[in-house]
Amino acid sequence: MTNRTPPVIAAIGTGMMGQLAHLANYARLRDDGACEIAGVTDLKRGLADAVAARYRVPRVYADADDLLADPRVDAVACVQQWPNNYALVHRILGAGKSVITEKPMVGRVEEAEALSALAQARGVHYAVGFMKRYDRGVELAKAVVDDARGGNDLGALLAVDAVCNGGDWLHNIEPPVRVDDATPPPPLRPSYPDACRTPASRAAYEWLLNIFSHNVNLCHFLLGEEMTPRTARFHGDRAFAATLHAGDVLVTVRGVAGRAHDWREWATLTFERGEVRIDTPTPMNRQRSAAVAVLRGRDGRFATTHHHVPVDWAFFRQAGGFVGALAGTEPLRAPAAECVKDVRVMQRLIEIAEIA
Ligand SMILES: NC(=O)c1ccc[n+]([C@@H]2O[C@H](COP(=O)([O-])OP(=O)(O)OC[C@H]3O[C@@H](n4cnc5c(N)ncnc54)[C@H](O)[C@@H]3O)[C@@H](O)[C@H]2O)c1
Repeated sequence: MTNRTPPVIAAIGTGMMGQLAHLANYARLRDDGACEIAGVTDLKRGLADAVAARYRVPRVYADADDLLADPRVDAVACVQQWPNNYALVHRILGAGKSVITEKPMVGRVEEAEALSALAQARGVHYAVGFMKRYDRGVELAKAVVDDARGGNDLGALLAVDAVCNGGDWLHNIEPPVRVDDATPPPPLRPSYPDACRTPASRAAYEWLLNIFSHNVNLCHFLLGEEMTPRTARFHGDRAFAATLHAGDVLVTVRGVAGRAHDWREWATLTFERGEVRIDTPTPMNRQRSAAVAVLRGRDGRFATTHHHVPVDWAFFRQAGGFVGALAGTEPLRAPAAECVKDVRVMQRLIEIAEIA
C-alpha cells in the first residue's frame, strides 16, 4: 500500500451500480480533492468511453490487465455481478492493489477466506460494499446498542429481528449512461456451495446473497460477533425466514419479495426494558439516512425517542470511507476479513434450508 495522497482509483465495470453508486461518488470526492480517478474499463468499450466522458475521467484502459499494469493506480472499484468477483479480485489483489467490490464477496466460504488472506498477504485493502455500515443512522444505532450492552439501563439484549421486504429500491434516481452494444457478455460462472444441487436451491441462494446478505452483515455489525444459523426456510423466491443466535441473543432474518412503493427494511433489537429500531432507507435514495427509534423505560414509564441524523447517502459515505482507508486515516468498516463471516453464515443457511 502506498502512502501517497490523494489515493488514485480506477474502475473495472461501468454498469449501473458501477456508475451511480460508485464512480459518481469518487468523482464527487475527486472534485473535492480527496482522490484522483485514473481511468475506467469495461468489456463494452463504448460504454466505458461514454461513462468516462460523463464523469470527466481521463483514460479508458483496453482491459483489466492494462488497468492493473498502471503503477499510478492504488485501488480499484470493481463493481460486478458477484460470480465475477473471485477471479477479478484475485487478479487485482495479486497486482498489489486495493479493491472495493459490491456485495456479496463470493458464493463459497473457502473463496472468501482465500481473498481475505491474499489481501492481508499483499498488505492491501479489500472492502466489501455493505454500505449500510456507513449510514449515519446505523452509526448512531450502533453507538446506542453498544452503550446499552455496556450498562444496565435497558437490561440484557434478548433478540434481534432483521427484516427486508423489498420494494422500490431506486427512488427515482436518474438512469445510468447506456450504449447500444449487442455484444453478449461472457456467461457468468457462479460458484455455489455444494448444498446448491437443484435449480430451486440455487435460486434461493441467489436471493439470500443478493438481498439478505445485507441483513446478515448488519446483524454481525450490530452484534459484534458471528452468528450461528439454526433453521432456514424458503417459500420459493417469495418468502424467507431464518433463525440464528449469537450467544444468548436470538436472531431472526426474514422477509418477502415485496413490491411496495418504497423500500421496506428494518431491524429491531429488543432488550429486557427497551428496544432499538432501525429503519434503513431506500438504497439509491441520496437524501436519506436510517431512522432510529429508541424505546426505554424511566421511573416506570416508557417513552420512544426518535433520532434525526443529518441527511446523507450511505453509498457516498462508503466511498469516502474507502478513500480514507487508502489514505490511512480510518479503518474500513466492512473489510473482507469481517465479511467472510457473512459468507460462512449464508453457506450454512443454504445447507440447512428447507425449500418449499
Ligand atoms: N449494495 C446494494 O444495495 C446493491 C444494489 C443493487 C445491486 N448491487 C450489486 O451490484 C452489482 C453490480 O450491478 P451492476 O448493475 O453495476 O451490474 P452490471 O452487470 O450492469 O455491470 C457490470 C459491468 O461490468 C462489466 N464487466 C464484466 N466483466 C468485466 C471484466 N472482466 N472487465 C471489465 N468489465 C467487465 C460488464 O460489461 C458490465 O458493464 C450487482 O451484481 C449487485 O450484487 C448492490
